[in-house]
Amino acid sequence: MNPLYYALLHVFSLFVLTAHTFMAFANPAPENRKRALMITGIASLLVLISGFGLLAKLHNNHFAGWVIVKLVCWLGLSMLAGMAFRRPHLRSKLSLTALVLILTALVMVYIVRLSGA
Ligand code: HEM
Repeated sequence: MNPLYYALLHVFSLFVLTAHTFMAFANPAPENRKRALMITGIASLLVLISGFGLLAKLHNNHFAGWVIVKLVCWLGLSMLAGMAFRRPHLRSKLSLTALVLILTALVMVYIVRLSGA
């Protein structure tokens, strides 16, 4: 498959994961929990699948340091919606954590990977 399709899926599912994670921070009511965890769970899986698709197509499955850092960011981001429902009082800290994880993953692609560091 053309890697552009993986890139499209990667970025789209990241938007969905991020949007629904912040929706969970905004309103962690118990009645929203099931839907939020379902959507963030599916989006998170699609981010991972498309990320590994890109890794196979563009980097011959080579695990460079920047990929490992992105995997850690992905793992953290994927856990945050669930944490927002269990610990609603920590929402402002969790949302800051989400922003830092997203920024770190973006720096890995656009600064580290593209500058060849
Ligand atoms: C918070 C998590 C993540 C964020 C914010 C993120 C973001 C991005 C973005 C914006 C791109 C550029 C897409 C493009 O310009 O075509 C990208 C590419 C990529 N991502 Fe992710 N990603 C994340 C997680 C992952 C994970 C878990 C993997 C697992 C292997 C991964 C592997 C890749 C690869 C291999 C590329 C292609 C890089 C290249 O063009 O050489 N990403 N990612």
